Formats: sequence, C-alpha cells, structure tokens
Amino acid sequence: MYVALLMLPSAARGLSTPPPPPPLTQPGLYPPIAKADPLLWWQETSGAIVVAGAASGIGEQIARLYGKKGKVYAVSRSIEPTMFEDNPNIITSRVDVTDDDSVAALVSQIKEDGETVSALFNCAVLLNGEKGPERNIKGIDKAFFMDSFAINAYGPINTTRQLLPLLAKGGAVVNLSARVGSIADDEMGGWWSYRSSKTALNHLTKLSHIETNRRGHKITFLSVHPGTTYTPMSSPFTQRRYEAGDESLHSAEFTATAIAELVAGAGEDHSGGFFDWSGQSLPF
Ligand SMILES: NC(=O)c1ccc[n+]([C@@H]2O[C@H](COP(=O)([O-])OP(=O)(O)OC[C@H]3O[C@@H](n4cnc5c(N)ncnc54)[C@H](OP(=O)(O)O)[C@@H]3O)[C@@H](O)[C@H]2O)c1
Repeated sequence: MYVALLMLPSAARGLSTPPPPPPLTQPGLYPPIAKADPLLWWQETSGAIVVAGAASGIGEQIARLYGKKGKVYAVSRSIEPTMFEDNPNIITSRVDVTDDDSVAALVSQIKEDGETVSALFNCAVLLNGEKGPERNIKGIDKAFFMDSFAINAYGPINTTRQLLPLLAKGGAVVNLSARVGSIADDEMGGWWSYRSSKTALNHLTKLSHIETNRRGHKITFLSVHPGTTYTPMSSPFTQRRYEAGDESLHSAEFTATAIAELVAGAGEDHSGGFFDWSGQSLPF
C-alpha cells in the first residue's frame, strides 16, 4: 500500500511538487582593483608584514619593499640570517609552512616582540622537482603530489589560521596563486599537482574570507596571480625569454610592487577573490 502510494505522482499524493533548488550563485568576477600606494596603506594598519617564502623571488622582493618603511618577518625553510643584513627592519627566521610547530614558533616570536600583523604574504611554493611538474596522468607521483598540496595549499592556510589572531583590523592575507589554478580558464591541462593545489588554494582564500568576515573581523583575503616572473621557480621555463630580453617577463621587483599596490587598493568588494597582478579579476 505504502509503496503503491509512493509510485503515484506527488500531486496525486496530495503533495505539492517541491520547488527546484535555487540556482547556484554565479561565482562571477569581482570588480577590478584600482591600485594604491602600499606604504600609505601600511600607515593605516599598525602592524608588521610577514612574508612566508622570502628566501628568493617574489617573496624576497616583497620583504625588501616593505622593509624600507617598517618591520618585516621574512621566513622560509632555509633562509640565511645574513640575507637582509643591510636592513635591520627585516627579521629572518627559519620556518617550514607545512609544520605546525614551526609556524607556532613564528607566532610566539611576533607576540614576544609585541607586534600585530598588517599583512601576511604566502609565497612558499613547490612546482619543480624530480617528479614534477607532471606532463600527464602517468607522471603523477604520490609523494610529490602530497608535498605540493602540503606546501601550496596547507602551508598558506596553516600560516593564516595561526596568524589570524594577530592580524590587525583592515589587514590582509595575500595568497600567491597562479592563473593555471583556474578551472574555468584551463584549456591545456598538465602540471597536475601544481594546478590542482593552486585551485585548492583559491578556494581556501574564499573560505577564509567568508568565515572571517562573517565574524566581523575585517580582513581582506586575496588570491593573486603574479604574472610570469623571472625567479628560481620559473627559470626552467623562462630562462630563454630572460636571456632574449623579453619585456613581457616581469622582474621579481616589478611583481612585488604590483602586488603591494593591489593590497593597498583592495576593499571589502574584493575579499575572497582571485586577481591578476594588474588588478583584473580571474575566474575560479
Ligand atoms: N614566478 C612566476 O612566474 C610565478 C607565476 C605564477 C605564480 N607564481 C607564484 O608566486 C609565488 C612565489 O613564487 P616565486 O617564483 O617567487 O618562487 P621562488 O623564487 O622559488 O620562491 C619560493 C620560496 O618558497 C620557499 N619555500 C618553499 N617551501 C617552503 C616551505 N615548506 N616553508 C617555507 N618556505 C618554503 C623557498 O625557500 P626555502 O627553500 O628556503 O624554503 C623560497 O623562498 C608562488 O606561490 C608561485 O606559485 C609565480
């Protein structure tokens, strides 16, 4: 009897047809960011800058840029204490972003110094190695895949979650991402571990925004594609362009300034979004 009733259309059972689920909100694009002066922005939030992955490339130049005006914690696994010895504003510390205790030690150091944090830049990355980047699915190596997710996705959310209590109101968390992490934009495939870990990172940026700002803690979270920049990470692919003087290849100094200008110009409308170095929104 019960089964026979269930087989009737819902109207005949005296039930109204359930409404269709609401359409998923269009992930859409965010308004472009109009760049602003990084050092003026910094004056408005009173705290230090933390750069994770500061031993080379873009992270190093971000540390040097802010270090001209104030305190910067420049960290990576193997950073040399002498690296920024020309600038006492820049404090180096050996931190592995995948290691909870290592990040906790950084948090303790910042607290002991009596500092808050204006901005956290997550620049640590794994792209190249014996097992990567992979050309095809056969090339996937479990350890390399896991390490990529550990450094490129867990690392940034580990530093974010541990430093969040120290982040000043109006502060920012900037996750250095990559355009190749966009699902919507991917027509090429390849680089499985790097691409998919950056896709995860973009979602982590959005999750951080939703949860933090819902609690009224006003922080701007951005995923940023820096543009192809000549650094140790990119050099296996950019060396020829660099030697040929290709002007479309960014220097790390140029990219660092562009990213700092984005942070200064970003507002509530941008938090949780994915942008390129010029301020244009990218699809997830
Ligand atoms: N360069 C480009 O063309 C390009 C393009 C798109 C996106 N990006 C993104 O931009 C960001 C910066 O890249 P980059 O080109 O400047 O790279 P890079 O010069 O290779 O620098 C990477 C830094 O990450 C540090 N690092 C790696 N693993 C770490 C860990 N577990 N804990 C702490 N630090 C760690 C490295 O230092 P240690 O070895 O001392 O730890 C190094 O300082 C990355 O997120 C990258 O995906 C770059």
